[in-house]
Amino acid sequence: MSDDILDNIFENAVKGNSLIKNRKILTIDYIPHKLQFRDEETTTIAQTLSVSLKGARPSNLLLFGKPGTGKTAVVKNVINKFKEKSTELGIEVIVVFINAKIANTAYKVLYEIAEEMNINKIDKKNQVYFTGLSLGEATNRILDFIKKRQLHVIFVIDEIDSLVDKNGDDILYNFTRANEQFQEVGFISLIGISNSLTFKDKLDPRVRSSLSEEEIVFNPYKIDQLQKILSERVKLAFYDDVVTEGTINLCAAIAGKDNGDARKAIDLLRVAAEIAEIDKDTKVHEKYIRLAQHKIEKDTNFEIIKNSTTHTKIVLLAIAKSKNGNTGEVYEIYSSLCKHVDNESLTQRRITQIINELDQLGLISTNIVNQGRYGRSQKIKITVPLSTLKEALFDDHLLSTITTTID
Ligand SMILES: Nc1ncnc2c1ncn2[C@@H]1O[C@H](COP(=O)(O)OP(=O)(O)OP(=O)(O)O)[C@@H](O)[C@H]1O
Ligand SMILES: [Mg+2]
Repeated sequence: MSDDILDNIFENAVKGNSLIKNRKILTIDYIPHKLQFRDEETTTIAQTLSVSLKGARPSNLLLFGKPGTGKTAVVKNVINKFKEKSTELGIEVIVVFINAKIANTAYKVLYEIAEEMNINKIDKKNQVYFTGLSLGEATNRILDFIKKRQLHVIFVIDEIDSLVDKNGDDILYNFTRANEQFQEVGFISLIGISNSLTFKDKLDPRVRSSLSEEEIVFNPYKIDQLQKILSERVKLAFYDDVVTEGTINLCAAIAGKDNGDARKAIDLLRVAAEIAEIDKDTKVHEKYIRLAQHKIEKDTNFEIIKNSTTHTKIVLLAIAKSKNGNTGEVYEIYSSLCKHVDNESLTQRRITQIINELDQLGLISTNIVNQGRYGRSQKIKITVPLSTLKEALFDDHLLSTITTTID
């Protein structure tokens, strides 16, 4: 590629008529101070936390709700305000916010807690090193630090289900039980946030009952609520009259149909605006929302497939190659592909599970078809474009020889 072409791209980016007045407003880190339609949830969380300003231990709290329903945003807003108020009143309550998905392992969660609480700087004896301690020892050090100093602590663990999925609920058990040894001079309260509605089933009954002293469910946003959330963002983020009402309505309708997810609605709008800018358009028309939808879906499907296990990838290939799409044929093709790449095949039962998972992820569709006197059978079809599938599998060197055989 010549330098001229690159020069042009960068120069156009600067010169190009920008539609977005403030890009920050459309990023995931931006949280509006006032979150519409979440007054009740905000009030309940704030009331729960407020007892700590009088020295009492707030109830543990579990927040549930589908992705993009405002859980993280509401909690962060309440915590910020709470920290402001407690500082103003000179009351020390330590609030530690950890995202368990980002921290990734139970040990990392403990390490982050120790860092956030400054334990590693001010209490050498109780340091939680970056690696090296057992989970039990790391937990004990944090608990000892809290006990010695009689601290009042609130741990907020966002995406708590990913912690439990990977490392079980031992840490949560230890934290919820620790209050017994503090003998009411210090305390730990836990706020857990999860987008898995079945999260509680994974917990030991003892942890379940202590962790969910109180529960709040965040319901999906309705289409008209998404419209209002979007309109508010549009006013802050875009120049006047750049985003039409039709565009906002379409965006809300798409995100509303798909789980009432505010993140998805905002992402659609941002990506649509970026496409409109590249197109040098003066408005973000509805057509750009459609294009953004394709782009986002393509990107997510691509990432999901790329990060799947080899067997899941082979199952997808088998479905793509299958002619009649019934489970038996898919399994046969899957087994022969496994042989081809020297991989031992999994049982038919496991493959049926994988097929169900792929169905839930929306990568395939499964329909029961009536075949008259031959009875009923399942018809499995791939729903992502074959080009996306090919592209996502291309990097897997184990599969590169068989990927080229689909068309
Ligand atoms: N009521 C609201 N008003 C304005 N913006 C909102 C509202 N609710 C959510 N948002 C915005 O939608 C996006 C997603 O919200 P948030 O991250 O809080 O979702 P979540 O429920 O934590 O999702 P997940 O379960 O995937 O973590 C954020 O950009 C947030 O600012
Ligand atoms: Mg969240």
